[in-house]
Amino acid sequence: MPDEIDQLREQIEAESIESAEEAEAFRIKYLGRNQGAIPDLFDQIGDLPPEERPEFGRRLNALKERAQERLDAAKARLKREEQAGGPDIDLTLPGRRGFRGSTHPLTQTLDEILRILHGLGFSTYEGPEIETDWHNFSALNFPPDHPARDMQDTFFLKDAPEEEDPRVLRTHTSPGQIRIMENHDPPIRVAVPGRVYRNEAISYKSFCLFHQVELLYVDEGVTMAQLKQVLYSLARALFGEDVTLRFRPSYFPFTEPSAEVDVWWADPDSGRGQAEDADDGGQWMEILGCGMVHPNVFDAVDVNPERYTGYAVGMGVERMAMLRHGIDDIRIFYENDVRFLDQF
Ligand code: DAH
Repeated sequence: MPDEIDQLREQIEAESIESAEEAEAFRIKYLGRNQGAIPDLFDQIGDLPPEERPEFGRRLNALKERAQERLDAAKARLKREEQAGGPDIDLTLPGRRGFRGSTHPLTQTLDEILRILHGLGFSTYEGPEIETDWHNFSALNFPPDHPARDMQDTFFLKDAPEEEDPRVLRTHTSPGQIRIMENHDPPIRVAVPGRVYRNEAISYKSFCLFHQVELLYVDEGVTMAQLKQVLYSLARALFGEDVTLRFRPSYFPFTEPSAEVDVWWADPDSGRGQAEDADDGGQWMEILGCGMVHPNVFDAVDVNPERYTGYAVGMGVERMAMLRHGIDDIRIFYENDVRFLDQF
């Protein structure tokens, strides 16, 4: 046991006490009434032969005094340092800012599109991302052998039982039109935002997933002139009053007549559409498809095409965000690089 006193003394001398927490830990470890190392040894005095007890007690008392001395000295030093402003705390340094995230630029553009559309009287509906072949293709008047159903650009799910309608990751938001009309009678005026999937070759302008917003307006006497007016209102609110749009005749199975709409993109740096001018170095950028709802689509959902007409629109959110912000590669939206995201 006498050896233990020597060992303990070495240990005590080797301790470093650099903070109030360390001082308290030192006190508990060596002097603490409950299981402190020195009081523990005092408790063991009774186990020694009587003749060894006085000497042992004397040495242990000396060690106790030494431990208390170290503790008092350290405390005094810490207190002096604190009053002097501390040894290694420079109070003039700026504090550390908490990290603050922000809304993703695609979400910002989507929110903005929906905000404008709500102002134009559209409510919002969201459909499932896993769709039936019926909603994604058949009810939208895609012929059975249409190339869009091809394994090349559609992700089919394998687990559907043979007799059931095959299931697919939706390739567009247009099945939202079918789901709305299956469950609601006209008049219908709705925006369907969502994520869509295609087995694309990935490049600066195509990714295997992207986002669309579908518009559907069905009522008595809906016309293409109304469609154009809504698209102009939306484009001006998004890109500015001076935006130039071009309507090109096109083909979609679920609309007749159909059109695609381009924005004149004069200044890729600002991403703002300007008036068309052969010399401004700009180009047309396709942003959406649209048209008047095909009578076969109305038939598929039991809406009377003799009574109702409607228009439909499908727009690409990534395209809109790229135009607004002058972004030239779609892939950067999905990399989640904070250096990119931080800018919005
Ligand atoms: N669903 C089409 C696509 O993804 C886009 C589209 C075109 C939607 C015309 C429409 C429309 O509602 O009328 O390519």
